[in-house]
Amino acid sequence: MLGKLDWAAIPLEEPIPLIAAVVVFLGMIGVAAWITRRGWWSYLWHEWITSVDHKRIGVMYIVLAVLMLLRGFVDAIMMRTHQTATLFGEGYLPPDHYDQIFSAHGTIMIFFAAMPFVIGLMNFVVPLQLGVRDVAFPTLNSVGFWLTASGALLVNMSLVIGEFARTGWLPYAPLSELEYSPGVGVDYYLWAIQISGVGTLVTGVNLVTTILKMRAPGMGYLRMPIFCWTSLASCILIVAAFPILTATLAMLTLDRYLASTSSPMTPAATR
Ligand code: HEM
Repeated sequence: MLGKLDWAAIPLEEPIPLIAAVVVFLGMIGVAAWITRRGWWSYLWHEWITSVDHKRIGVMYIVLAVLMLLRGFVDAIMMRTHQTATLFGEGYLPPDHYDQIFSAHGTIMIFFAAMPFVIGLMNFVVPLQLGVRDVAFPTLNSVGFWLTASGALLVNMSLVIGEFARTGWLPYAPLSELEYSPGVGVDYYLWAIQISGVGTLVTGVNLVTTILKMRAPGMGYLRMPIFCWTSLASCILIVAAFPILTATLAMLTLDRYLASTSSPMTPAATR
């Protein structure tokens, strides 16, 4: 992906992503300046960013989810206002940009708002309900969160540097293959979902292990609160499904970078 980016990837002629990027950048500088002024960097670094406490990691997941919910909400508002504007003309989003927003909305809402919210809640609540001090692998828990946050950062960067995929939130092949999506959008998607997917997988393994192996004495399965049961079911599904997602994304990556398979829809002459 990085090899494909050049200065043309910065959308200097497109006012909407450019203005959004400038506003977000200024907002981040403002928040950083405020934290510096208050002298909170050391506290944030030691008590939150490097924390392996399940409650703090749970809170960070939920903060990330709320931020991404707002982010996805902006996309949703843009889509709906554009659709409303088409009653009176052509709308204000070029088709190419609409497709990116449509895909970004689905991707961000599912992978970076809904999932982190549920995982954050499980992280916070499950060890408390089981009567244990922390999850089975606290450091891995932190790694899982930061992988998810890195994926979220990468996805959001793609709307400003380069482009977002135009393939919907589950880029099906062959639309997502190089022939039909030659830009960097699908590459961004692949790396971001791969990184955050590994984070989700390790968190799923962590919570399954915690629930199966680390309950307080006397906390039998039939005494376990219903939330722990639903968390166990969700995490078993994560452990079952995410390796498949990882493998599928890896295969699409190999297709795009090494032409490992050619799409059945590719004309024979160009194979
Ligand atoms: C805040 C209110 C929301 C509004 C106004 C909204 C609006 C929309 C719109 C206009 C579309 C495109 C539909 C189409 O043209 O076919 C869409 C798609 C979608 N939305 Fe939302 N949405 C909202 C919240 C959410 C939430 C909370 C989630 C998930 C947690 C979500 C997940 C999705 C998904 C997965 C798609 C399909 C995207 C794709 O196919 O790539 N949305 N939404």
